[in-house]
Amino acid sequence: SDAVHAAGGSFMHREIHEQPQSTERALRGRLDERFGTAHLGGLNMDPRETRAIRRVKILGCGSAYYVGQMGASLVEELARIPADAEAASEFRYRNPIIEPDTLYVAVSQSGETIDTLLAVQEIRRKGGRVIGLVNVVGSAIARECDGGIYLHAGPEVAVASTKALTNMFVGFALLALQLGRVRDLSIADGKRLIAGLNRLPGQIAEILEQEEELAAAAARLAEADSLFFIGRVRGFPVAREGAQKFKEISYRHAEAYQTSELKHGPLALIDEALPTVAVVPSDELTDRNVGALHEIAARRGPLVVVTHEDVDLGELDAVRIAVPRNERELDPILLTVPLQLLAYHAALHLGLDIDKPRNLAKSVTVE
Ligand code: AGP
Repeated sequence: SDAVHAAGGSFMHREIHEQPQSTERALRGRLDERFGTAHLGGLNMDPRETRAIRRVKILGCGSAYYVGQMGASLVEELARIPADAEAASEFRYRNPIIEPDTLYVAVSQSGETIDTLLAVQEIRRKGGRVIGLVNVVGSAIARECDGGIYLHAGPEVAVASTKALTNMFVGFALLALQLGRVRDLSIADGKRLIAGLNRLPGQIAEILEQEEELAAAAARLAEADSLFFIGRVRGFPVAREGAQKFKEISYRHAEAYQTSELKHGPLALIDEALPTVAVVPSDELTDRNVGALHEIAARRGPLVVVTHEDVDLGELDAVRIAVPRNERELDPILLTVPLQLLAYHAALHLGLDIDKPRNLAKSVTVE
């Protein structure tokens, strides 16, 4: 279509479409098929040190923080180690307690984000161990860390990050796999995840083929002044990242909520002028999620539902975007890809500067 063709000129569009190749690069040489684990030499940790880790704390800013939340879920699910993510921009201001058996993970595309760098320095000053998930080789954060996983996304130019974020997710999956396999994650589960990781590049390519449908949905969403993005548990950071991307480049107010929180307040805002983009994977929460969508539809709220083929939405009046299913732990990244294209095509429809949105810099290097 014209919309898809016109999109070809921007870096963001190119970077979105590079993801099948860039995810493959993130995996190359890092999978140990025989033992169902990841091979991450750059971590500089032997199995005994890896086993001694009792907690994982992830630090990043903006979208890197949201992918960090996805990463924390991966670590908790695969390794059963308590994990959480925090905005690096807040961390050092609350005199954080640094524990010797916590693994700190700094996540950054540029490796130059000042808030993340200062968080790393605060941790190391207090004797903590910190590894980096960084894209730019030799960047300040990469140099400051005790070890790390390079993202291998290649240069990312558009201010709105896409392929680097996807590789952050892959990096977290590899880390979680390695942490899990020195504990209770079985060899069979390890192999199941490796097979899932190997399917990601092809599945991302399949999602990108739905660009025309996504462009049409985005053009409608772009007409609204305000939108909700909703999701639960694994789907919530997906919704947060979707809202972030949408507001960054379309300048529309986009707010992420946990689907379960709707009835505790935000449902009051739903009417025909406030569309909702809902993340509804096929999982143990599908029925509850679909129930919430019916609540929205009953109040005439327009709906775009990013979901899986086998999810039954009943008679719901909604634009439906289905992504291929992977292992449930890896689904969040596939659910994120359509949201990149929604944001992209909303901005394109509005005629905005996609690669250089107003008020934003690619990396924030001053306090
Ligand atoms: C992403 O689309 C944003 N432009 C922004 O939130 C970014 O992710 C954040 O500033 C962190 O940047 P970094 O990954 O280079 O540290």
